[in-house]
Amino acid sequence: MGISEKRPAIDRITRRDFLKSSATAGLGVALAGTALGQSPSQAAPAAAKSADELRVAVIGCGAQGRVLIESMLRIPSVRIAAICDIWSYSRQYAGNYLKKYGHVANVYEDYRELLAAEKGLQAAVVATPDWVHAEQADACLRAGLHVYCEKEMSNSLDKARSMVLAARETGKLLQIGHQRRSNPRYIHAIDRLIRDRSLLGRVTVAYAQWNRAKADLLGWPEKYVIDQATLDKYGYNSMTEFRNWRLFKKFGGGPMVDLGSHQIDLFSWVYGTHPKSVVASGGLDYYKNWEWYDNVMAIYEFETKEGTSRAFYQVQTTTQHGGFYETFMGDNGSLVLSEIPQRGNWAMREPHAPEWDSLAKAGLLQSESVPIQKSTTKNVYVDVRVTAEAGRWPLPVELAKPAHQPHLENFFDAVRRGTSLNCPAELAYESCVAVLKTNEAVRARRVMDFRPEQFKA
Ligand SMILES: NC(=O)c1ccc[n+]([C@@H]2O[C@H](COP(=O)([O-])OP(=O)(O)OC[C@H]3O[C@@H](n4cnc5c(N)ncnc54)[C@H](O)[C@@H]3O)[C@@H](O)[C@H]2O)c1
Repeated sequence: MGISEKRPAIDRITRRDFLKSSATAGLGVALAGTALGQSPSQAAPAAAKSADELRVAVIGCGAQGRVLIESMLRIPSVRIAAICDIWSYSRQYAGNYLKKYGHVANVYEDYRELLAAEKGLQAAVVATPDWVHAEQADACLRAGLHVYCEKEMSNSLDKARSMVLAARETGKLLQIGHQRRSNPRYIHAIDRLIRDRSLLGRVTVAYAQWNRAKADLLGWPEKYVIDQATLDKYGYNSMTEFRNWRLFKKFGGGPMVDLGSHQIDLFSWVYGTHPKSVVASGGLDYYKNWEWYDNVMAIYEFETKEGTSRAFYQVQTTTQHGGFYETFMGDNGSLVLSEIPQRGNWAMREPHAPEWDSLAKAGLLQSESVPIQKSTTKNVYVDVRVTAEAGRWPLPVELAKPAHQPHLENFFDAVRRGTSLNCPAELAYESCVAVLKTNEAVRARRVMDFRPEQFKA
C-alpha cells in the first residue's frame, strides 16, 4: 500500500474547493442519480454536464476506495455515478461522503448488478481485496469500461494474466494502482536524475524497507456484522477473514505483497530490467492468527547493461524502525526516496563524483546542505576522516496533492485524450511476478531463478 497504508491525514478537500472545481468544469452540483439507498430505477435524469465529463463507478469503498474517492473529487469533470460494496458500512460511509460534495451515486452491493444496471459509464475504479480484482476488472473491461485497479493486480499470477489479456482483447485501458509511477518526485528522481543524467553513476545496490509496529487484527462495529449467508455468497468464512483479508492466503499476499508491491516495482524501474533471481527468508514468527509471513527479507539480483547489481528488500510487522523508504546507491552517489518526503527526498554525492553544482544551478537538485564535518561527544573525539558525511542535496520537486491523485489524473487523461498510462497492466504484471514469486521463494527456501519470458503475460 502506499501512503494510505500508513493512513496519515491527507489534507481534506473542502466543500468550497469542490464546488469551485465543479463549477470551473461547468458541472454544477445538481447531479443525477439515485439517492443513497434508492433503487437505480428511480434515477433522476442526468444534469447538464461538461463535454469531457467522465462517469465513473467505484467498486470497493473500504479504506483505499475512500482515499481514491477523495482524490477523484479533486479532479475536475470526474463524476462518481455509482458505487458498489458488499458491506453496508462501506456503502453508507462512501455514499454519505459523496453526498457531502454533491455527488449522488447509485449504490450497489454486487458489481454484477451495477454493470447490468448502469448505462453511460466510461470507467471503473476497483479497490476491493486483491483476490477479486481479476474477476471484477475483467468484467468491467468486457462491459466496455476503462479500469483503474488497485495493486496488487491479484494474489494469483494466472488471474493477473487474465487481466492483461482482457485489456488487450477489449482495447480498453487498465491502469494498476502503483501510484509512485505518477508521483512527480519519483519521476524526477528516477527518470530525470538516475536514468537520464546518471546522477548516481552505476547503481550497484538498492535497498527498500517497510517496517510497521505490531498491530491487532482489524475489528468491526457490532452493528455492521455481515450475516453468514452474505459472507458465504462472497467467499469469506468469517468477519475476521473479511476484515483481515490481506493476512490470509485465499485473499491476499501478506505484507510482502501488500507493501512490497510498491517498492519492488521501483527496483525494476531504476535498473530498467526484471530481476534475474531472488533469494528470500521469512516466516510467521510473531503472530498466531495470520496465515501469511509476518516478516520477509529478500535479495534480488539484476543483470543490467553495466553488470550485476543487487537489491535488498525487507518488510517487518513488529517494529516501525526506519519506517518506509527506498534507497538507490551507485558509485557516484545515492538517493533516498519515500512517499513521505521527510523520510526520503535527497541525494548524497560521493567525494570523487563529478560536480553537481551545475545540476543545482539548472534546478534539477537543490543546493547541498552543510555536511557534517566532524562530531564530538562528551568524552570522545571522532576522527573527521571516518565520520565526514556528505551533505544532502534535496530534490526540488514537491507533490502538493494527495499521493494517489496524479496516478488517477494520468488514468483519466489517458481515457480522455489517449495519452499513455504510467502503469499499464503489462508493466504491473512484471512486478506482480517478482513480488508473488518472493513468497514462493520464502516457502521453497532456495534461490529462485526467473526466466525473461515469465514476465510476459
Ligand atoms: N495504492 C495504495 O497505496 C493502496 C493502499 C491501500 C490499499 N490498496 C489496495 O486497495 C485494495 C483495497 O484495500 P483496502 O485497504 O481498502 O481494504 P479494505 O478491507 O479496507 O476495503 C475493501 C472493501 O472492499 C469490499 N469488498 C470485499 N469484497 C468485495 C466484493 N467481492 N465486491 C465488492 N466489494 C467488496 C469490502 O467490503 C471493503 O469495503 C487492495 O487491493 C489493496 O491492496 C492500495
